[in-house]
Amino acid sequence: MKKIMLLGSGELGRELTISLKRLGCTVIACDRYENAPAMQVADTSLVFDMLNEAQLRAHIQSVDPDLVVPEIEAINTQVLLDVESARVIVPSARAVDLTMNRDRIRDRAAEIGLPTAQYGYAENLEEMLKLYQDMASKVVVKPVMSSSGKGQSTLAAGDAAAAQQAWHYAVENMRGDRPKVIVEEFIDFDYEITLLTIRQKDGDTLFCPVLKHQQIDGDFKISEQGTFEMGELEAEAQNMARQITDDLGGYGLFGVEFFIRGDAVIFSELSPRPHDTGLLTLYTQNLSEFDLHARAILHLPISDITALRVGACHTINAEQASDAYSVNGLADVEAMQGVEAMMFGKPDAYPNRRLGIVFAPDVATATAARAKISLDY
Ligand SMILES: Nc1ncnc2c1ncn2[C@@H]1O[C@H](COP(=O)(O)OP(=O)(O)O)[C@@H](O)[C@H]1O
Ligand SMILES: [Mg+2]
Repeated sequence: MKKIMLLGSGELGRELTISLKRLGCTVIACDRYENAPAMQVADTSLVFDMLNEAQLRAHIQSVDPDLVVPEIEAINTQVLLDVESARVIVPSARAVDLTMNRDRIRDRAAEIGLPTAQYGYAENLEEMLKLYQDMASKVVVKPVMSSSGKGQSTLAAGDAAAAQQAWHYAVENMRGDRPKVIVEEFIDFDYEITLLTIRQKDGDTLFCPVLKHQQIDGDFKISEQGTFEMGELEAEAQNMARQITDDLGGYGLFGVEFFIRGDAVIFSELSPRPHDTGLLTLYTQNLSEFDLHARAILHLPISDITALRVGACHTINAEQASDAYSVNGLADVEAMQGVEAMMFGKPDAYPNRRLGIVFAPDVATATAARAKISLDY
């Protein structure tokens, strides 16, 4: 029986834990707070700060896991690089380390020749203003270390006051102690996608049917699968995803994000783990992204990935902070044909915290189902 140390215990970690436990694994779920979603289904749990080098090192040593499986980005990756010679880091310490910082994965993608938005970095306000002026286009400013759209702003060209604000907003909402932002050309894309890509130990790289998604303020709200056609662009995205995941190495599922503009496929970013937009695969596929990640990291064969139905999902986010909340409208949602709700079991709420999701046959139905749910605080 394999012992898995899961670093990060949110909703993605919960579903991965269920998939791993179905395959006979023991799971130790870790996070900064008690009773996190994955802890509710894992064998045991540990509460500590995974960015803290000494604590992470000590816990990995005392748990002595067969596999260390990061579920979030906010982890001290130096520890993972240090311990990798003695144990397996999923998918690889290098992949986890490179993707924790937007600049490093972006540079790597550009180095291996993937098309990306134009970009540059700044470590102080003056540098940022200069870069923004030189780029002379609409841009997106993001902290190099952040996720779920935190600290991100979009600026029209030539608005110096807004650029100053964007710098401060990014620095206030970044992780880590090294102020650094990426200034990226705004891509006026037709749509954006996640390509779930599975690197296997024995066997070819596999792909799930592409997911199209919609983000609001940089945070995922809607995704759909099987409801649209990309034509030959899908194969192009697959080639690019294979190239970058081969470069990162290791085994497991990756969420590779692209912008599609006309017939251009533009690399955006990548998660070396299940992706939030891929929660939908719980509804649409024979094996969800969590089942696939579990099999790939355990070196089990994946005989087929089949879409059982098309679908869409809409997240349920909190409107306010509260140490308790209740959910209304589940009966109305479940009464809708082909609709399923899923709550994540998070103990408390804060503004925009993702608390659940609804799955449906299409975006309109998912949106209508979401509207039937309300939260009391
Ligand atoms: N250069 C860009 N042009 C247009 N939209 C962007 C750009 N960068 C980010 N976005 C929007 O913001 C979302 C979140 O940005 P992303 O880089 O994926 O950060 P996160 O790590 O927070 O997911 C993207 O999915 C996209 O909708
Ligand atoms: Mg993203």
